Amino acid sequence: MLIKKKVLNNLFVFILIVGVLTVSLATIASTMPVAAKDVPSHIILTWTGDARTTQTITWQTDANTQDGQVQYWEVRPGHLGEQINLAAQVKTVVSNKGEFNVHTATITGLKPGTRYAYRIGIPGTWSQQAHFATAPVTGGEFKFLVFGDSQSINYDTWRTTLHNAYQANLDTAFFINMGDLIDMGQDYSQWDAWFNATQGVLENIPCMPVVGNHETYAPERRLAMPTLFTDQFKLPMNGPEGLKGQVYSFNYADVHFVMLDTQIDEEGRFVPDMLEKQKHWLEEDLATAGEKWKLVFVHKAPYNNKPNGNPTIRTGFAPIIEKYHADLVFTAHDHVYAHTYPMYNGMAVENPTKGTIYVATGRSGSKTYSTSIAKEWDDFFYNPLDEPNYLTVEVNDNILTVTAYRQNGGLIDKWSIVK
Ligand SMILES: [Fe+2]
Repeated sequence: MLIKKKVLNNLFVFILIVGVLTVSLATIASTMPVAAKDVPSHIILTWTGDARTTQTITWQTDANTQDGQVQYWEVRPGHLGEQINLAAQVKTVVSNKGEFNVHTATITGLKPGTRYAYRIGIPGTWSQQAHFATAPVTGGEFKFLVFGDSQSINYDTWRTTLHNAYQANLDTAFFINMGDLIDMGQDYSQWDAWFNATQGVLENIPCMPVVGNHETYAPERRLAMPTLFTDQFKLPMNGPEGLKGQVYSFNYADVHFVMLDTQIDEEGRFVPDMLEKQKHWLEEDLATAGEKWKLVFVHKAPYNNKPNGNPTIRTGFAPIIEKYHADLVFTAHDHVYAHTYPMYNGMAVENPTKGTIYVATGRSGSKTYSTSIAKEWDDFFYNPLDEPNYLTVEVNDNILTVTAYRQNGGLIDKWSIVK
């Protein structure tokens, strides 16, 4: 009996110690700055300039590390290309989890359609070698990946979707994330998890992301401009004033890509005329784009799949998009995969030469919406409740093919438009 009591006492003390330790460690973890790294992390490829001749590379360190550089060389079989070093610009970013430095180097003067190797250097440390490739001069054949909302409780789901898609499409030129990358856009710990999940992909192919409403969500139920998005993703600065780096366009081969910001409800209080500014900018951008294909990317859909519509987004953007005949508009926010009939002025028209097809891109993270529904304008509708999904878009001169896959690679839908 006495022995039993002693065992119980010891057990009680053991549980108490474990409990205290767990609470202490959790407290330390939650207050610890997650950006305290002295080696390059979160290596990101994007384009801020011409995709044929430039490459922007970004990485993060702790706030004390200043002197970053990138070393790059052309990959030629049997020959080590000349190694060139380029110093990075450094910016200290303040987040809810502490300060960190973002290092950015934009390499210029590259050869089109060429593969390069590179590594990141900070004093005393080099990163693993990785690769990038410049866009071809014009035309030709290429593929890119599109991911709907990746926001999650933890980012293992996003990791699996991204890595499965990349492994099945190693020839992809880049990927697009359609916004709501994370659940709370002003919480650095979620970005840390999102970027950790991209390791192995994002240092080898560029990501050209779109802003979603969750990028504006800050702790304590506040709304903010998506500064952790714009501080971490270096994107073309050719958008309207007040929205540079989050509204932009770029070209790849014979395709013109336009990324808009549909967060009027969230960001309108900071940039009151953001819809009007974007409408003027979009009109000018599409009017002057001479590429064969024009693709637009928005987080909230002009033709959506929630029971309620997005009238501001539809009346604001659709008339301009359809006037200049963007071929496709990729959308997100409703977490379903769907595509409309070709639409013009609110009506389904007989073929894609007469209208624009709106493509809802699904979800790459863990969040689902059982309330999303097929609407009268939908030619195809699928709600990925059981498994996340992703898209490939292949452009081959006059043919553009969209394929929707389940996370495990199973086929959901495949269709093409021909010019
Ligand atoms: Fe959203």
